[in-house]
Amino acid sequence: MGTAIRSVQWKDGKFRIIDQTELPLELVYRDLGTAEEVREAIKKLRVRGAPAIGIAGAFGLYLGVRNYPGDDYEGFVAQAEKVADYLATSRPTAVNLFWALERMKKLVRESAEMPVAKIKNRMLAEAQRMIEEDIAVCRAIGEVGSVLIADGYGILTHCNTGSLATGRWGTALGVIYVAAEQGKRIHVYSDETRPLLQGSRLTTWELMQAGIPVTQIADDMAATVMAQGKVDIVLVGADRVAANGDFANKIGTLGVAILAKEFGIPFFVAAPLSSIDMSLPSGEGIPIEERPPDEVRTCFGKPIAPPDVDVYNPAFDVTPYRYVTGIITEKGIAHPPYEITLAKLVEG
Ligand code: MRU
Repeated sequence: MGTAIRSVQWKDGKFRIIDQTELPLELVYRDLGTAEEVREAIKKLRVRGAPAIGIAGAFGLYLGVRNYPGDDYEGFVAQAEKVADYLATSRPTAVNLFWALERMKKLVRESAEMPVAKIKNRMLAEAQRMIEEDIAVCRAIGEVGSVLIADGYGILTHCNTGSLATGRWGTALGVIYVAAEQGKRIHVYSDETRPLLQGSRLTTWELMQAGIPVTQIADDMAATVMAQGKVDIVLVGADRVAANGDFANKIGTLGVAILAKEFGIPFFVAAPLSSIDMSLPSGEGIPIEERPPDEVRTCFGKPIAPPDVDVYNPAFDVTPYRYVTGIITEKGIAHPPYEITLAKLVEG
């Protein structure tokens, strides 16, 4: 049981990803050897999901300084800063990217006494450690959150928060993997997640690989399955959680949260502490990525609207904390008031 999918790994001197734009039709691995290739992969959502984007950023930074020729520390730091700034322009919303880049830069700053070759080795080791840590953290999220899942539960989820979005277990799907491992008979309803279909292309694919019962629904069917009593709990991930518990996640999450409240269904967010941005008092300050209009005008490359129709395409929305029953982290479940409970988890 569980999942063996590794969407991000270090292999033969390259950063190997599953190209998520090719799923579910083909399982294609891509080996990325430069910071430019990593940035392109993040931007195009070949590698996606907040924790996986963070890991990609760390490897991208290493790849961007790997061939630095000199041994002068000052020049090396300047190069690392430049590459980090460049990678930071790939996608703005998931805080994990900035968290990972900051962690790598801190390592470089703390290694000032070492030869440049040794700093490079330390950077690679740190990026590899991030994968291992993510695997352990998501496993812990799964175990913590599994207490919320009873035998026979119907679970609705939005977007993809599983192995594909992380080092291995996933966040919201991590809870589902652990609950299934515990022998609970669960059934997942996966929102299709327009415009890029992470739910129908990715979540259904990976749950089917793991043998977990899943039903795909179009986004506009969530209210109906809730009204029919098929959903006992909603589990979603997060790209950034503010100090007050407001959180950004894939566009459409806000609508699901409002529906869950209307139908009296518990609504939980599963996220590692690295997704919590205590510098933001509320969700108002979370930068929301806007993506190209053609993602909405087309589907799988085919036009589904007049080619020149005006489009608004925000990739994420912000759900206010009042809709959130609890936030599942690797260190425990935070309940309102989040200013206090999240601060305790982050500090502790
Ligand atoms: O645009 P994406 O596919 O990167 O958006 C991903 C999400 O919104 C996920 O729900 C979020 O990153 C949590 S992943 C564990």
